[in-house]
Amino acid sequence: MAGKVMQAVWYTCYGGGAAGLKHVEIPIPAPGNDEILMKIEATSINPIDWKIQNGFVRPILPRKFPFIPLSDVAGEVVEVGPGVTNFKAGDKIVSTLGGAGGGLAEYAVAKESLTVPRPSEVSAADGACLGIAACAALHSLTVTGGLKLEKTEPRTNILVTAGSGGVGHYAVQLAKLGNTHVTATCGARNIDFVKSLGADEVLDYKTPEGAALKSPSGQKYDIVVDCTTVIPWSTFEPNLSPTGKVIDITPSGGTFWNYAMQKLTFSKKQVIPLLVIPNAQEIGCLVKLVKEGKLKTVIDSRYPLSKAEAAWAKSIEGHATGKVVVEP
Ligand SMILES: NC(=O)c1ccc[n+]([C@@H]2O[C@H](COP(=O)([O-])OP(=O)(O)OC[C@H]3O[C@@H](n4cnc5c(N)ncnc54)[C@H](OP(=O)(O)O)[C@@H]3O)[C@@H](O)[C@H]2O)c1
Repeated sequence: MAGKVMQAVWYTCYGGGAAGLKHVEIPIPAPGNDEILMKIEATSINPIDWKIQNGFVRPILPRKFPFIPLSDVAGEVVEVGPGVTNFKAGDKIVSTLGGAGGGLAEYAVAKESLTVPRPSEVSAADGACLGIAACAALHSLTVTGGLKLEKTEPRTNILVTAGSGGVGHYAVQLAKLGNTHVTATCGARNIDFVKSLGADEVLDYKTPEGAALKSPSGQKYDIVVDCTTVIPWSTFEPNLSPTGKVIDITPSGGTFWNYAMQKLTFSKKQVIPLLVIPNAQEIGCLVKLVKEGKLKTVIDSRYPLSKAEAAWAKSIEGHATGKVVVEP
């Protein structure tokens, strides 16, 4: 592909939101030794993508400007570096590009170690949503929460906040693969949707009961996957079982303070701050679940690359039901 060009969308400085995105024509990147050049068929937006643009992890990311955002991608292998052994041109794949980004473009270079094969049962759009959001849901429940996705285990009571969002809609479905009772919160318009994902009971977060996180059937939660930014520990605490854990995927300073205090006082109820970095093993596990029909990606909206700004704005609004996808 040397000398050929592609369409891409980048930003050149912090801030600016959707208006800060610029469409450019640039050379198609070349794969390094252990890398794969892929033609992107679909990519998805996560809130961390526009938070990085806002300077949330400054000065670590972006590594440099201009920066092509998005890391969750699916597509087809075009060319591989000499050290790549498991993929060849024409293979369908799902990959995560990590902090290097590059997903908002027609082509991207992916590490072989962060790439998994994509079976024909898993569409590019479905696969492109699994990286950050589904890995966060899987990791929270199974690694941090210790949930086994088998029906033979003792019953676990789970709360998923924002069960309608990118992470939450996967967390509800994954939680129901275990022997669980799942309560979820969402807005009134999404109650039927979240029930359709398998939740046993759903609370409208704008009602007093929903804001208090009270289970209608009186469950005390063993694991909470908190996908919101606004709920204080004092609201979670009375709703937890004696050893209940709140896994906070949007931790604030208060989360870290509570975490430290609870460790110091040997509290059995805990909040645990969590940052998940997607890896091939977890993405492969999720692809398998989608292939087997045990997990589905729900797509809020799809945009062509030419309308990337609209997709970006949609994610920033914070009202997606499922995932926002861009298809070059
Ligand atoms: N730590 C990690 O590794 C990690 C990984 C992935 C994501 N995250 C973070 O997790 C958060 C969620 O990510 P996401 O991709 O799921 O976001 P998202 O898809 O943008 O979430 C939007 C959904 O959340 C619902 N929602 C918003 N506030 C709510 C509340 N107070 N109670 C119940 N539902 C509420 C919205 O419903 P309405 O439209 O009805 O308001 C909407 O359906 C983000 O802050 C993201 O940065 C962290």
